[in-house]
Amino acid sequence: MGTERGNWNSQLGFVLAAAGSAIGLGNLWKFPYITWHNDGGAFVLVYLLCILMVGLPIMMAEILIGRKTQKSPVGAMIEAVGRRWAWVGGLGVFTGFVILGYYSVIAGWTLRYFATCIGWSFKGFESSESTGDAFNAFAANGGLQLMLCGAFMFVTVYVVRRGIGGGIEKVARWLMPVLFAILVLLLGSALSMDGAREALSFIFMPDFANLPATGVLEALGHAFFTLSLGMGAMITYGSYLSHKQSVVRASAIVVALDTLIALTATTIMFSVIFSSPGMKEQISGSTVGMLFISLPELFYTVVPMGSILAPLFYVLVAFAALTSTISLMEVIVSYFIDQRKMPRAAAAWMCGLGTFILSALCALSFGGVPWLSRFSWVYRGTDGAKEGLFQHLDYLASNWLLPVGGFFITIAVGWFMTRESTEAELVADDNPGWFYFPVWRFIIRYVSPVAVALIIIFVIRGKDFS
Ligand code: PHE
Repeated sequence: MGTERGNWNSQLGFVLAAAGSAIGLGNLWKFPYITWHNDGGAFVLVYLLCILMVGLPIMMAEILIGRKTQKSPVGAMIEAVGRRWAWVGGLGVFTGFVILGYYSVIAGWTLRYFATCIGWSFKGFESSESTGDAFNAFAANGGLQLMLCGAFMFVTVYVVRRGIGGGIEKVARWLMPVLFAILVLLLGSALSMDGAREALSFIFMPDFANLPATGVLEALGHAFFTLSLGMGAMITYGSYLSHKQSVVRASAIVVALDTLIALTATTIMFSVIFSSPGMKEQISGSTVGMLFISLPELFYTVVPMGSILAPLFYVLVAFAALTSTISLMEVIVSYFIDQRKMPRAAAAWMCGLGTFILSALCALSFGGVPWLSRFSWVYRGTDGAKEGLFQHLDYLASNWLLPVGGFFITIAVGWFMTRESTEAELVADDNPGWFYFPVWRFIIRYVSPVAVALIIIFVIRGKDFS
């Protein structure tokens, strides 16, 4: 088993892989969208508080469980707090499957938009191809959808099959620096645009009169999604971390990078949108509208050097999504390696095939297959936009699975692991924890569970955070 499990080659490799998991479509697709419809500033401030008060402590808790037990979520929960907790790990594996099912569909879209932008950059921009109708026709093209998400899934499996140090870490070491570099280029261009000032004040000037009450809980729900918490991804990645490496420092860096990237991406997108007269009013209400309908056109009509930056932007989104799908897949695959004693390669291909079946159904739920597109089960949307399998899985994962998983992880670590055992993981010789350890322990026992319980109660009463 030891050889099948593997290890990170270095602390940097782990940090980049964990940051790769955290930084993804949550930062580039969801965060800008929810910031937009929650009216900016005040929402962003609340989100930052949630990241600091709930996200960071739970990140530490998850990595701690993983590093301590050196096992993937099911085995880790059993070893850390006992057999009765195995289901929390199992829920994580199931959640990974659900998220991967719909996430890979959007990830696949980035490939198509990359190709389209390359075409536009060389042959000239065609406005007829960038309308909402053109997008809907693309989304409803079942064959193409299957191909795109299939391709994405294939690459994901290919990397996961190669293991931790030689696959996941290697890819993260290459892709993350490229991602940061592209983002800096984009930021430079965006800040030179007319709309930059307005964008910055929209994002960073809080006006609490504009914050909808439910925005607070939406911010908290998104903190889980964006940091890959509540489903064991960080337990799994932590389980390949050696005892020499610091949980606290790694968690802090990952959380800081994720937050920085979310804010940078949002600044870029809003600068572009605010630079185009009339665009503010036009931003479509759909969650995918900003990234796939409004932005592609704006790159070619308002962004300086847009024809170079547009393809780079979609490469960035694709890379960010890939390092996240890898971590989702690794949670599922590591379950079969650790608990079912399967060889990695077999586990990876089997899980890839299994999740592809779900992705295929999702990919066809944008009009490709009518009953999947109108599917209405856990969530009965009052607006048509909430119909369909894709929307349902996102709703199920963001509103139920992640908060419930996160809640039980905080309870397990805060109340069922001893103070000594958590202290031994978080406090290293060169790093006296007298300052942060009591604060962390207080938060993980009281603040985080109450905050997460609040989300769950709100969801039960009918609020949607997806
Ligand atoms: N954190 C990823 C993102 O922001 C999504 C994700 C959630 C990945 C849960 C792994 C586990 O896109």
